[in-house]
Amino acid sequence: MARPLCATILGRCLQCNYTPVQVVSPLISRLNASSAPSALSCIGLEKTQKMAFSSSARSNTNSQVSEPPACLLKPLEVPNKLLMGPGPSNPPPRVLAAGALPLLGHMHPEFFEVLDDVKAGIQYVFQTKNEWTYAISGSGHAAMEAAVVNLLEIGDVALVCQNGIWGGRIAEMVDRNGSIVKKLVRPMGEVFSLEEIEQGLKEHKPKLVFVTYGESSSGSAQPLEGLGDLCRKYDALLLVDSVAIAGGAPLFMDAWNIDVLYSGSQKVMGAPPATSPISFNQRARDVIANRKTKVRSYYLDAAELANYWGCDENPRRYHHTCLVSSIYALREGLARLAEQGLEKSWQEHRKCAEMLYEGLEKMGLEMWIKDKAIRNPCVTTIRVPEGVEWKKVVDHLMKQHKIEIAGALGKDLLGEIWRIGIMGHNCTPENVNRTLQALKEALDLYWKK
Ligand SMILES: Cc1ncc(COP(=O)(O)O)c(C=O)c1O
Repeated sequence: MARPLCATILGRCLQCNYTPVQVVSPLISRLNASSAPSALSCIGLEKTQKMAFSSSARSNTNSQVSEPPACLLKPLEVPNKLLMGPGPSNPPPRVLAAGALPLLGHMHPEFFEVLDDVKAGIQYVFQTKNEWTYAISGSGHAAMEAAVVNLLEIGDVALVCQNGIWGGRIAEMVDRNGSIVKKLVRPMGEVFSLEEIEQGLKEHKPKLVFVTYGESSSGSAQPLEGLGDLCRKYDALLLVDSVAIAGGAPLFMDAWNIDVLYSGSQKVMGAPPATSPISFNQRARDVIANRKTKVRSYYLDAAELANYWGCDENPRRYHHTCLVSSIYALREGLARLAEQGLEKSWQEHRKCAEMLYEGLEKMGLEMWIKDKAIRNPCVTTIRVPEGVEWKKVVDHLMKQHKIEIAGALGKDLLGEIWRIGIMGHNCTPENVNRTLQALKEALDLYWKK
């Protein structure tokens, strides 16, 4: 009986086989009152065995156990910051609490119910009835890779619309997959017209077109209406990145004929980074079913994942150990959105974005994107005024107020923009005002007009 307790409560002691009492005690002090006695009795029962192990280890000079890292013997301390950058955003307490609920096994029927709830929540946020709708275990990049490796084979052509970091990132993934990248490029902050995408479709005859709906590096929102129909006309799939916007602005996967859509847990959905919602429609599924070659990633195989998530007629099979606690958190983030209602959430994000624009303009700042209609309400990009060192302002907010705002992502706009995110639980007039006040204080110090 001692071993399982030991393994459950003091995971580290199974790895090193011997955990001296002085190492164990700080850990025990952090266990809750009910589990601490069990942990202690477990150590007592195992003592003889451990001493035998440690003397045999000492006799072999090559296998001496190193000292445990001193940093891990101190309690974990994390400051509480207001995350008003482009993500992650602060999860509400109920989401953090959900992540701390008792662990279930990833094949337990109760956990399958949680998966079903999450699937329904993603279908709601994406406004889709697609059966293949679930969350990838991994951050947004995992969903990007999943889309690429499932939809494209070696030699397939993808038309990537790049007006910020994310087009560049997906292009890199397409290339690494052995597929061919054709790019349409626009400066950061601009969006693509249907006409130029049609030109690209005619010229390159791609299997897939990629656009970023909510660009977090430039702050733009790509208009999507009509794009799905256009892609169908040219027999191409439409893949859309909605990591930095889903839940915060209108998005209708089915009505807009988006074939594959993905997002991330850590922005408007208000859960910690870990899971990334994705959905494939029937056209995308047909492309996957008709592949000539196997999907090059087992972990990200969309059909295998669909089975595990109960999206096909077969019994669920083990695929990988799903991120149980992260799924609880995502469920709670989606539940919060469902309670609020999508339309209300879109309105709140728009309202807070407008408040932010107004406050920034009052300070004499300019938005990077002039046309409000193509701004991502969840991530606002602001032009850094002449003579102001962007980093000093960012550091001031962090040091004096524990508020995160960000500079540019990547080299292109480095020093030229700040980025402020308003997402999910953080999307309140109070947070917008706190950020504006802190920013004003920093500008009074560092902007000599
Ligand atoms: C638009 C967009 N796409 C993709 C990603 C990648 O997501 P992650 O960092 O969670 O891997 C991000 C992250 O910020 C993003 O903003």
